[in-house]
Amino acid sequence: MAAPTQQLQPDTAGIQAAADLLAQGGLVAFPTETVYGLGADATQGKAVAAIYAAKNRPSFNPLIVHVADLETAQNYAVFNHTALQLASAFWPGPLSLVLPLKPGHGVSELVTAGLDTVAIRMPAHPLGHALLQEFAGPVAAPSANISGSVSPTTAAHVLEGLEGRINAVLMGEPCDVGIESTILLVAGDQVSLLRAGGVPAEIIEACIGHPLLYHQDPETPQSPGQLVSHYAPDALIRLNADIFSANEILLGFGPCDSSTLNLSAVGDLREAAANLFSYLRKMDRIASEQGGKSIAVSPIPDHGLGLAINDRLQRAAAPRT
Ligand code: TXA
Ligand code: MG
Repeated sequence: MAAPTQQLQPDTAGIQAAADLLAQGGLVAFPTETVYGLGADATQGKAVAAIYAAKNRPSFNPLIVHVADLETAQNYAVFNHTALQLASAFWPGPLSLVLPLKPGHGVSELVTAGLDTVAIRMPAHPLGHALLQEFAGPVAAPSANISGSVSPTTAAHVLEGLEGRINAVLMGEPCDVGIESTILLVAGDQVSLLRAGGVPAEIIEACIGHPLLYHQDPETPQSPGQLVSHYAPDALIRLNADIFSANEILLGFGPCDSSTLNLSAVGDLREAAANLFSYLRKMDRIASEQGGKSIAVSPIPDHGLGLAINDRLQRAAAPRT
C-alpha cells in the first residue's frame, strides 16, 4: 500500500471515517484497553487477507473478532450458560472467549483459520467501542504491529511499525491495561486458559467457582498464535535478574536503585502491565544507543497480572527463530 496512513482524530468525524474505511474493506488501527488492534471487516475475506499481509503474519494464525455488544456477538458464536456467565461478568473488558461458530455466521475462513470455533471479545475502550458501534458488524483485529514484534500501546507505536502499510489509525490515548486480553476456551462447563492476559486467572476462577484448565501441550496448541518467540525487541533479554552486569541495562520492578526504567517502583502489577510494552521499546532503544547492551529484567511475581506479564517476557526472551 503506497498511500500514507491517515491519522484520524478521536471525534465523531474520525469515528465515522474509520467505520466507512472498514466497510470499504480498508485496514484501520484502533485503540482497545489492552493494545491497539489492526481492524478489518471480518466478513470480507480480502480485507482480512490484507491484515495478514500488513503484519507479515503466518496465515495459520486465527484472529479475534471484536464486537460492540453481546447481541452482535451472538450472531457469530454460540454462547452456552458458562459463556454467558463469563460475558456478563467481564464484558466489556480484556477477555476473549473461544466458542463454537454459529451456523450462518458469515465470518471469513481466514479469521478462524478453518477452525470450527471463533475467538470473540467486546472491548471496554470508549473510542474502540464507539467505532464498533458505528460499524455495527464484526471486526477482526490482531495487535497492530509487525508479527513477532512488541505489541503497540500507543498510536505512535502503531505508526512506527505500520505507517504506509494500513489505511488509517484512530488516534486515541495510550492503552490503560497494556497487555492483551485473557483468552478462554469454553466447552460445556469446562473453561481452559489459552492465554494469560488482562483479566487475572484467579478472578475468573472466583467467577466460575472452579479451577481453570491449562493447555500446555506444545504438540496440540489450542491457541496457534502462542508462538514461543514473540513480542521480541532487538536486544537480548535475561529474566529474573537479581544482579546485572556492565553489558546489561536493568528493567526494574519494585524498589531497586540502579534500574534504567522501572515497570513499577511500588511493585504494582497493574502499573507494570500498563508500562510493559512501551518500556520494552524504550529499553531496546537505549540498549542500542549504548552499543548493543542486553536487557536484564527484575523478577516479577507469578500471580494475578504477573502471570500475563511473565508470559510476555518469556516470549520476548525466548531464542529467536
Ligand atoms: O487484547 C487482545 O486480545 C488484542 C486486541 C487487539 O484485542 N488482540 C490480540 O490478537 O492479541 P492476536 O491476534 O495478537 O492474538 C489472538 C490470539 C492468538 O493467540 C490466536 O491463536 C488466538 O487468539 N485465537 C484466535 N482464534 C482462536 C480459536 N478459534 N481458537 C484458539 N485460539 C484462537
Ligand atoms: Mg499480537
